[in-house]
Amino acid sequence: MKDQLLDLENDALAVIAGAESMIALQDIRIRYLGKKGAVTDVMKGMRELDPEERPVLGALVNRLKETLEEAFGERSKLLRQTEVANRLASEKIDVTLPGRQSFSGSKHPVTLVTEEIVDIFSSLGFCVEEGPEIEQDFYNFEALNIPKDHPARDMQDTFYVSDDVVLRTHTSPVQVRTMLKQKPPVRVIAPGTVYRRDSDITHSPMFHQIEGFLVDEHVTFGDLKGILTHFLTSYFGKDLGVRFRPSFFPFTEPSAEVDIACVMCGGKGCRVCKGTGWLEILGCGMIDPEVFKSVHYDAEKVSGFAFGMGLERIAMLKYGVSDLRLFFENDLRFLRQF
Ligand code: DAH
Repeated sequence: MKDQLLDLENDALAVIAGAESMIALQDIRIRYLGKKGAVTDVMKGMRELDPEERPVLGALVNRLKETLEEAFGERSKLLRQTEVANRLASEKIDVTLPGRQSFSGSKHPVTLVTEEIVDIFSSLGFCVEEGPEIEQDFYNFEALNIPKDHPARDMQDTFYVSDDVVLRTHTSPVQVRTMLKQKPPVRVIAPGTVYRRDSDITHSPMFHQIEGFLVDEHVTFGDLKGILTHFLTSYFGKDLGVRFRPSFFPFTEPSAEVDIACVMCGGKGCRVCKGTGWLEILGCGMIDPEVFKSVHYDAEKVSGFAFGMGLERIAMLKYGVSDLRLFFENDLRFLRQF
């Protein structure tokens, strides 16, 4: 039995010394010292011994247990040290490595232009209003004096959702929506996304406009000229040349288009202004009495002006961008420049 114990001890010490991890060591411990372990088996066998042999063997078994406990303790200390050392090595941070550069986002040029224009008009007492991009025929056309047979409704230009619902082709329907819910005086600036069936280097089926309008008693074309000239010179520079040309829109009478002196050549004539020295920048006019009728305003008592312009075009002129498509391609090399 003594030999058996010695074998067991040698065997166990070898296995403990070979344990590669704390988990393996735990298993080995159970195998030898656990309730059904090898040492416990030996102790069970002691019942069959003579009573005088038992204390001698008992002492030997206790020594074996102590020896094994000690071996387990030492091995586990060693394993823990290696585990800590390995972790320290693998989680080491090299503080001398150069840092990774982080990029912060920037605003899209169309957003920048929108915000700057809204700022100028806010300082003149205009409030921001918005309307839906999926719009009823009534607001997009009918109430703006664009009847059913008007060429602007052509399937070539308008995305129809149904007979009576369109993707708004301009921001002008916000005029109708605002005037229907507010009594004069009103002073509104309305930026937004609009849609037309158009796509080439200078046209995108989705683009942005900003609409402005003011209604009060005794508003004149002089007020319109004053406000728009103030806006254009604040935005593009105070010596900017501005001219008003007669034009036509169904929802204004009289109507005008506004040109500014070419910001690329200063009016001398270049490719951008096609040699004319002028750039068409917006449409405007005095709100037509037919529109006032649609929104139940008394055209005898109040008058007003309205204007609308394309934001991409303004962004192109302001930042010298020659291709409209750059605004919608989301190329970070382009966007990061703003
Ligand atoms: N809605 C016009 C367009 O999309 C732009 C416009 C012209 C708006 C004259 C106006 C205006 O308010 O008075 O082309």
